[in-house]
Amino acid sequence: MRLAYLTPFLLLACCLQSASAQVTSQDFDKIMLYTLKNSNGLTIKVTNYGAIITSILVPDRDGEMGDIALGYDSVEDYTNAVDKPYFGAVVGRYGNRIAEGKFTIDGEDYTLAVNNGPNHLHGGVIGFDKVVWDAKPVGDNSLELTYVAKDMEEGYPGNLKCKVTYTLTDDNELKIHYEATTDKTTPVNLTQHTYFNLKGEGNGTILDHELMLNAKKFTPVDEGLIPTGQLVDVAGTPFDFTTAKPIGRDIEEADEQLNFGGGYDHNWVLDKGGKDGEMTLAARVSEPSSGRVLEVFTTEPGVQFYCGNFLDGRLTGKAGKPYVYRGGLCLETQHFPDSPNQPNFPSTLLEPGEKYDTTTVFRFSTE
Ligand code: BGC
Repeated sequence: MRLAYLTPFLLLACCLQSASAQVTSQDFDKIMLYTLKNSNGLTIKVTNYGAIITSILVPDRDGEMGDIALGYDSVEDYTNAVDKPYFGAVVGRYGNRIAEGKFTIDGEDYTLAVNNGPNHLHGGVIGFDKVVWDAKPVGDNSLELTYVAKDMEEGYPGNLKCKVTYTLTDDNELKIHYEATTDKTTPVNLTQHTYFNLKGEGNGTILDHELMLNAKKFTPVDEGLIPTGQLVDVAGTPFDFTTAKPIGRDIEEADEQLNFGGGYDHNWVLDKGGKDGEMTLAARVSEPSSGRVLEVFTTEPGVQFYCGNFLDGRLTGKAGKPYVYRGGLCLETQHFPDSPNQPNFPSTLLEPGEKYDTTTVFRFSTE
């Protein structure tokens, strides 16, 4: 990969356009930056490096456009970022942690690359966020990205063919469709790691954003953020977001789980109402000053709500503003962390002949 030539994302290479929507792209050797734009002017930029969403431009309640996704405008900034924030990326082959990077399938032990203390995080040292995907615009409002992870890449069994399709609709929805097949049984858990700040990226913290999570239970963790295996009621704890509340309201409470996460960095068990695998509401975030609203729908059973506890102002975003402590929030729809070692969690194993097929929708509006 010739990273030296990749700063910043520049030349316009091709343009597919229709009356209502368009996909355009910029070429940097094999690394491209694509622009999805709908008839309302919502604009989403995606690079095939890590399938990263680099920017999401949406209006506030007065129609003022703002970029609500943390990120960069050069690939080098992504590759050089300290503390690996995974801004905007698709993470895989397994989103979130696997304890000690170990699991057993059919009596066979596997050891993964370990990159988070003693544990495996977000697919390992070179996860799906750090590889170049093949990208192809489809129709006038979709971008299809494919990547084939090799057998034993980062320690995982099986050649895994993955496809992620981003579609921006004229209803102001970004639909993310994940598909995968394998030739050996393997755990798969793909998610999207965009950090949102509905005031605009770089505009302070997200503690004033109001969050509702459609979940009566969450999966508590140990000090290493590995689930204990229990599903615990959120009622009466700082983890209760069943009714919308400002993210900052309870975040400083004395609570062991908040201590372990350094704030919120946990998986909530979505209330699927018996509709496992069906699309249901996972979360709703609103920001009072801009009026911007983000709703998240998913076929997945869980959502990792992470509120940027590891940001500390050292990273400076595309507009030149520092990303402060808790300056962005992620809503990573997913299966539960460490599922390969947790017999009581829904399985993440994909078998040869099966198809991994999940969808998540980010819907943007104002109030
Ligand atoms: C994890 C955090 C981690 C962050 C960035 C989140 O999905 O839950 O613990 O720090 O990603 O890697």
